Parts: sequence; C-alpha cells; structure tokens
Amino acid sequence: MTSDTARRPRIVLDCDPGLDDAIAILTAAHHGDLVGITTVNGNVGIEHTTHNALITAQVADLDVEVHRGAARPLIAPTMDAARIHGATGLGDVALPQLRRSAASDDAAAFLCDTARSVDDLHLVAVGPLTNVALALRRDPDLRSRLGGLTIMGGGAHGGNVTSVAEFNVWADPEAAAIVFREAAPLTMVGLDVTHKVLLGDREVSQLRSADTPVSRFAADLLQYALDRCREFGLEAAPIHDATAVIAVTHPHLFARSSHPVAVELHGERTRGMTVTDVRPPAAIAAETAPPSHEVVWDANARAVIDLIVEASVNT
Ligand code: RIB
Ligand code: CA
Repeated sequence: MTSDTARRPRIVLDCDPGLDDAIAILTAAHHGDLVGITTVNGNVGIEHTTHNALITAQVADLDVEVHRGAARPLIAPTMDAARIHGATGLGDVALPQLRRSAASDDAAAFLCDTARSVDDLHLVAVGPLTNVALALRRDPDLRSRLGGLTIMGGGAHGGNVTSVAEFNVWADPEAAAIVFREAAPLTMVGLDVTHKVLLGDREVSQLRSADTPVSRFAADLLQYALDRCREFGLEAAPIHDATAVIAVTHPHLFARSSHPVAVELHGERTRGMTVTDVRPPAAIAAETAPPSHEVVWDANARAVIDLIVEASVNT
C-alpha cells in the first residue's frame, strides 16, 4: 500500500547506499513515484553502493531500474564512510542472494534522458554530487528540465566530517561547487535539519513489530546505525537521506528560506564548506553574490520520523 498515487512526486534518487540511503529508497518508493535510482561512489565504493541499491530494491520488490554512476570524485581523492556504514555499506545486515543487475553504467546519461522524458521530475541527490555534476556537463540546461532538485548535503552551521564540512559535499567538493553554481535553485537539506530527525530504539521496535521482510531489513539497518552512533556518544541516529526525500514528498513539514550558497574549495580548514550568506538581502551585493538556494532549517521532526517508519513498514 502506498500513499495517494495522484499526489506522489516523480523522483529519481541519486544515492550512495549507505544505511540511510537504503532507507531513503524505501521512503521514496512509498511516498513518491520512484522512477529510477542512480548510484555513486561515496559511503563505500561504486560496486558496493550499486549492489546495495539493487538489493534494497529486491528486498522491497520494487519495479525500478538502478544505473551505476561515478566510481570516483571529479578531482578529490576517493574517501569513504565505511566506519559509519560498514565495509560493504549496509553494516552487518544479512542480505539475500542478489538476483538483479544494473540497467546501465552511465548514471549521468540516465539522469539527462529521464529529465527530458519525464515531466515534473524531482532529482533527489543524497550522496556526493559527482553524477549530478557530470550530468550538468552533458546537459547544461538540466536544471530547467527538472521539476525540482533537492540534495541531502551541506549545512549552514557546521559539518560532520570536519567542523564545517558535511560528508556528501566534502567527498567531492568540485562536483558540489558545479551543482551549486550551475543548477540553481536547489533545496539544501543539510545537517541543520537532518540532525533534528533522529531515530532510536522506539523506531527499531516499531519496525520489528511490523515483522515484514522490508521492516526487518529497515530495523537491521537502523540498529547498525544506532550502534555506530552510540560509539560516538549519540543516543539516536540522524536518518539524513530519508529526510531529504520527505522534504520533497511532504514539503509543508519543513521551514526553509532563500540564501546565496557557495562551496569552498581552497580553504586549508574549510574545503567542502557550504558557505551560506544569511545576511538580510539588502546587505548582499546581488552582482557579486553566488546563486541563491532554498536552505532547509527546521522540520516537524516527529511527523517526518513517522513518515519514514511508515514507508519501511508498508513498502
Ligand atoms: O552527511 C550525511 C550524508 O553522508 C548521508 O548522505 C550519508 O548517507 C552519508 O553519505
Ligand atoms: Ca548518502
């Protein structure tokens, strides 16, 4: 059972599964019309992120193609987040034998082709922005063909990989700089809001009580994320990527405002920072300001969490 078909936005999800990316796939499939998945190197290598997207679609019995994307950042060295997501990207979750394969190995082409062929398509990017930057190089008019572009990434007030840089932007800052410069306006669902959408033991129990193959899978993903967070002294896990999906399917649950945002590339300690200008518009010289984007600051976290759990129980 999925939410009302008539209102569900058409989504293509670019992701690097990744524990929260896998939950985002389930969330997009339930609350949106998931027309495609593209994978990118990020949390773990491209072979793992692609396998993980395929196995998530298989577990949930989704009729959706997965297209493999970039195996490394545009310029930055290849880094990963295996210490958070595990060596293969889905923690220690028991997985079935994979019976699916990628539809292509050219995610950028799929993004460009789908933007041309599907009206009002929302591109939701929840990993490093390498594929989106490559798609922009292929089709500079990509943004005008999309109904919306939403990223999980960045943050106006702080980072997670460094004190100022969030992983998705930090992992490929040149790609992020291209996207923020050439695909305005985007909606930035950054750490400012995702650090308020925290799932814990209560949500694990809800998923386990549902006792379906998908809810058990999601419970295992969340439990692994929780265990890692507790090693860092956190009591609950921010489910960053699914929050970005809900920002598209249920925008009324979020507070946002428009600000110039640019990605820092050269600072010794600030590389990968999403420099967000929060000054009053009258104080900003329009002729020199970077493009403006929708910055998401806050959310009705309880409602967002319930929608994420609903998707993992009912998909
Ligand atoms: O900083 C959070 C982001 O980095 C999420 O997309 C998570 O999956 C990791 O990729
Ligand atoms: Ca991700």
